[in-house]
Amino acid sequence: MLDRARVLDAGDPLEEYRERFLVPEGVIYLDGNSLGCLPKATPARIEQVVREEWGQDLIRSWNSAGWIDMPARVGAKIAPLIGAQPHEVIACDSTSVNLFKLISAALALRPDRKVVLSEPGNFPTDLYMIEGLEKQGLAERRLAERGKLVEALDDGVALLLLTHTHYKTGELFDMGELTRAAHDAGALVLWDLSHSGGALPVDLNGCGADFAVGCGYKYLGGGPGAPAYAFVAERHLEAAQQPLTGWMGHAAPFAFSDDYAAAPGVEKLLCGTPPILGLAALEVGVDLIAEIGVERLYAKAQKLSEFFRQCLAENGVTLDLVSPADPARRGSQLSFRAGQAYAICQALIARGVIGDFRDPDILRFGFAPAYLRFEDVAEAARHLAEVLETGEWQREEFRERAAVT
Ligand SMILES: Cc1ncc(COP(=O)(O)O)c(C=O)c1O
Repeated sequence: MLDRARVLDAGDPLEEYRERFLVPEGVIYLDGNSLGCLPKATPARIEQVVREEWGQDLIRSWNSAGWIDMPARVGAKIAPLIGAQPHEVIACDSTSVNLFKLISAALALRPDRKVVLSEPGNFPTDLYMIEGLEKQGLAERRLAERGKLVEALDDGVALLLLTHTHYKTGELFDMGELTRAAHDAGALVLWDLSHSGGALPVDLNGCGADFAVGCGYKYLGGGPGAPAYAFVAERHLEAAQQPLTGWMGHAAPFAFSDDYAAAPGVEKLLCGTPPILGLAALEVGVDLIAEIGVERLYAKAQKLSEFFRQCLAENGVTLDLVSPADPARRGSQLSFRAGQAYAICQALIARGVIGDFRDPDILRFGFAPAYLRFEDVAEAARHLAEVLETGEWQREEFRERAAVT
């Protein structure tokens, strides 16, 4: 398999981009879907922001270095990756906070409806944010299994909130079909793009989506705790209101008025002072992903994940695949169900193969194609086969759970 992998790497049009990321020596990184690798240009950019813009120019940098425009500027760069117009996207806060703002905005746009429909097993924060609004009497949470979502769309539903690429299984929703079904029922749609943005082509406007959110620290390579992004379709920009009415979302923050007046555009989603260091790092990641192009990235990710399956088969590994077998129906990851998935994952990490575990029994491998080679994939499959064959995962040290799993 290694020979075949090397041939595939030699013909890979994205091969040159691996050099633009810091991939630690001896590590095969199959977790770029959780925390993307560091772009090599990021440390120098952060140093410039810290030493020059902050260190020397101090508060003047809000104007001279364009700090004040960074949420909109970085949002505008994310926009083409997700099929949005530049003025429809802003980079700010966490995905969770943006969910809160946009679920609230959707409910306010449908005042005669209260139900927020989602699926059981959606990413927890999406469900918790609905629950938080429910506890305040502002929403009613309804969950329906994937196949039953359309029939659950009755005239009480204000919003359909779904994660485009499922975080555990990698399964994709048909964004166009579900958006249409929700609109037919008079509901709005909010897509969580955390595992899609920067990984695969997304066409929010082509699908008629109303709202979207997504993470900056996964495929976009913005670094730990990077700002997230939020999308509001142009047709809602004027009417949409969000409840976190902080001063940065004001139409004229520096007028210091006693009364709130929302900014007319997507800036109304801002709340407090933007985190400039985080935005600077995110911008480097977004620029790099945009340069490579999401179409090419997704095409390679599909090849990598299929190659991984072939390598597992050739190594005699028969784990239960929980991701769709058809690569067109999944994002850039593969997940397998395995008893003792946690210990297996830890044993792999000890060998330098970093994937992750999702409770209770999922082994998840992300294929971030900007820096992953076919050779890495072949080697990862070999290591997994050896960990299973030798029973290495049974060692006591691999059972102990850390705070972050
Ligand atoms: C689908 C999805 N939504 C939301 C989040 C959480 O985002 P944040 O930590 O920015 O609130 C994650 C994190 O992994 C996620 O996978």
